[in-house]
Amino acid sequence: MRSDTELVEAARKAAQKAYAPYSNFRVGASVLTSEGAMFSSANVENAAYPVSQCAEANAINFAVSQGMTSIPIVAVACIDAGDMNGAYPCGRCRQIMSEFGVERILVTTGGGEVREHTLDELLPHRFEF
Ligand code: THU
Repeated sequence: MRSDTELVEAARKAAQKAYAPYSNFRVGASVLTSEGAMFSSANVENAAYPVSQCAEANAINFAVSQGMTSIPIVAVACIDAGDMNGAYPCGRCRQIMSEFGVERILVTTGGGEVREHTLDELLPHRFEF
């Protein structure tokens, strides 16, 4: 069974592989599936800025494309964030988390503090179908 610490460390490591030449804001995300499998990814930017993809979306979509549909935990590491308040997942990624049953979100920067939230805290009254 993987620990929260392992997931957070994997997210920090994934952030090192971010492709973020436009924002210089590297993000890594690691997800844990109900089966105990872990998938990690990073943000990948594009010269056409809106085409850029967030780390959380990439990690979740990677897991789903491997057949996973239940993802209870996501760790996100914004290693270039100045402080914890700048390290939270964007709204779009929160909605993507909702689709695959994310319950717990671990938020961190490059090191030190890790904050834990539920999706209910980060995206209350969310749209579900
Ligand atoms: N970014 C993420 O990867 N995840 C988020 O939740 C917020 C923002 C990325 C997108 C872009 O490459 C960079 O951070 C700056 O917005």
